[in-house]
Amino acid sequence: MQVADIIALRTVKVKISVHPARPTMERLSPETIKTGLVTEFMGQEVVYYQSIGSTNEAAKELAAQGAPQGTLVIADEQTAGKGRRGRSWLAPPGSSLLISLIFYPRLTLSQMPRLTMASSLAVACAIEEISSLSVHFKWPNDILLRGKKAGGILTEVSISGEIPDYAVVGIGLNVNLDVRQIPEIEGTATSLSMELGREVSRLELLQVLLGFIEREYHSLLHGKSPGERWSSRLSQLGQKVKVATPWGQESGWAENVDADGALILRRDDGTKAYITVGDVE
Ligand code: BTN
Repeated sequence: MQVADIIALRTVKVKISVHPARPTMERLSPETIKTGLVTEFMGQEVVYYQSIGSTNEAAKELAAQGAPQGTLVIADEQTAGKGRRGRSWLAPPGSSLLISLIFYPRLTLSQMPRLTMASSLAVACAIEEISSLSVHFKWPNDILLRGKKAGGILTEVSISGEIPDYAVVGIGLNVNLDVRQIPEIEGTATSLSMELGREVSRLELLQVLLGFIEREYHSLLHGKSPGERWSSRLSQLGQKVKVATPWGQESGWAENVDADGALILRRDDGTKAYITVGDVE
């Protein structure tokens, strides 16, 4: 089946519901995830691993074999979890949501950050739906709770022509993680349970998240960019920032994020920089 057929066959019908809290040590099996899941396709195929190197790597293999759009790869533990720019993603077994989703989006490579923004907006909406927390973002893809990193997104794309063959969106979310267990991130990271002072059901959060991702994805396919809604949650908006890019350091006032996720900086000399790759320091 062609990628275009897969997308054309989908109808827009999304219901999002919140399920009653379940015990937090619930098993994240394909059965428990699919029971009560009200999405049309997001997470309707589940590949679960108790332990795997990286869910993104597994999802890329499945996507290359033509796994259905919305296939969810999920693990309780990753032994080689990947962060952006070659970093590791660390999470003790059972502490986090470690997931990758397969997409066949009709977006050009330069539009692909829209998929990452849509996914982080879905994460924000899901956290806010099941808790009293407010979620902000750090450009380009960090999920923040009270200024500390609680999650991140790693989107990987396979491209041979103008439109990508597939995209894998990997989401790591510190749910019931005690960051004091990981000295590397202790000072800069947090988790939902640490912010709330209680444990959180990963299953409930995941099911709500899948609903929001499906809704955001439909919106993307209708040509809408999530850029404006994304930038309204940007923690550095209006602040003076330094950004390390592959071409050197840029600095200026963070003015906005454009439709394709570029950070717009106003330099001291009044000119604008559109930054597509980098890290805010
Ligand atoms: C970042 O902030 O650097 C992005 C982190 C993305 C981590 C997730 S965990 C699930 C998926 N599998 C991986 O190996 N990485 C992503």
